[in-house]
Amino acid sequence: MSVQNDAQKEQEKLINPAVLQRTGFATALGAVFATIGSAVGLGNIWKFPYLAGANGGAAFIIVYLISTLMVGLPVMVAEIMMGREARANAIETMRKLSPSKSQPWWLIGVSGALAAFLIMAFYTEVSGWVFAYVFKSISGSLLSTDPEVTSQAYASLVTSPFQSLLWQWIVLALMSLIIIRGVSKGIEATTKRLLPLLLVLLVIIDVRSLTLPGASEGLRFLFNPDFSKLTGAAILTAVGLAFFKLSVGMGTMTTYGSYWKDNQNIPSTTARVMLSDLAVSMLAGLAIFPAVFAFGFEPSAGPSLLFITIPSVFASMPLGNIFMVLFFLLTSFAATGAMLSLFEVPVAFLAESTKMGRVKATVVTAVLLALIGSTAALSSSTMADFTIFGKTMFDLYDFVSSNLLLPIGGLFISIFAGWFWGADNIRKALSNHGMLKNDLVVTGLIVIIKFVTPILLIVVLLNGLGIV
Ligand code: TRP
Repeated sequence: MSVQNDAQKEQEKLINPAVLQRTGFATALGAVFATIGSAVGLGNIWKFPYLAGANGGAAFIIVYLISTLMVGLPVMVAEIMMGREARANAIETMRKLSPSKSQPWWLIGVSGALAAFLIMAFYTEVSGWVFAYVFKSISGSLLSTDPEVTSQAYASLVTSPFQSLLWQWIVLALMSLIIIRGVSKGIEATTKRLLPLLLVLLVIIDVRSLTLPGASEGLRFLFNPDFSKLTGAAILTAVGLAFFKLSVGMGTMTTYGSYWKDNQNIPSTTARVMLSDLAVSMLAGLAIFPAVFAFGFEPSAGPSLLFITIPSVFASMPLGNIFMVLFFLLTSFAATGAMLSLFEVPVAFLAESTKMGRVKATVVTAVLLALIGSTAALSSSTMADFTIFGKTMFDLYDFVSSNLLLPIGGLFISIFAGWFWGADNIRKALSNHGMLKNDLVVTGLIVIIKFVTPILLIVVLLNGLGIV
């Protein structure tokens, strides 16, 4: 490095101290891995298959695809471009880009941080079970073809306050250790290693599942369209899932976008992230249902599919113990990349905006998460009878975040980007300030962000909540 270059950098640091502290992803490819790592998560393996199966199969998948294209993807583009332009955390980005300081757009960031805590509260719990299951499947204690037995094993884990909290806190501690290392050395390095492994393991399980005799019944369950199940609530669920899947609507992608490189092509890269995520969801559905049906099990909904049915399914096949270990291992990899991105939202805010620094911010976030998270972790034991609107804390956090906070956050993000930040700024951001010739794509995106996304979201929200 030349002396002059160094001198220039020194100068820059003097003018802008943030240059000194703020790091991003080291490479463009690393940014892509981390972003896919955020999108791919328990949503693909735990939510997508059972929601599709329970809400009309292909009919639900079609609505989910439309939601992803018209709502999820545009909000993802909006978040990433605004984060990258502002080079700041989710709350600060809204404040910086707001056309007038008196408009409280930063509240979107605050609601996003709240959503991050609610999602993490139940997400770390389910992840804790997944991590516990990696060990249980290695020890062979889950190997029973009788769902009664695997159901006992699951119950003994979730109804034990000690075990639930222990695994959740182990997960939180692990994530903290990665987050403390920083955006590039922690998040980027981890997701870059885990994602390829995840894909390999998933394909192995797919081949096993699809070659079982009787697998086609599972394909029918997943893909047979049943439009009678598409109620307003089911459509809101599909939209909520599109947000949850792509990690949008609460500032995760804004935060990650602030770490993207200046020369990355946002529309085409986000489309690739979306397609990769969709591919993993489909592969997960193809890994799970053919095997479930091949051995004559019922595809139960919710956590019990993953933690009760699946172990019995694996126990039914030759070398099933090995496949079971691989399955829960890949699920834990998926959960890790997603949790890191959720964790990063409050950490980036606390570290930068309160100047407490990354280490302290991580510890504060982890402690807060342990406190809120424990109310979700104890939902099946000590706090099982503590319900609000008939839901345990675990279910409440899931419902409020996916079906309310994310769609509402997405609505305000699209309105802000399209109408207040405005078309000219969008054009500059998405063309990398004139470096890319993608006028047509950008014009299309502007129309979608300004009109299609907000209108669809308003209709779906009102309809799903039973207001119209
Ligand atoms: N997308 C992840 C999954 O499917 C979950 C997730 C990570 C998320 N970050 C998020 C969901 C931010 C909503 C918002 O499992």
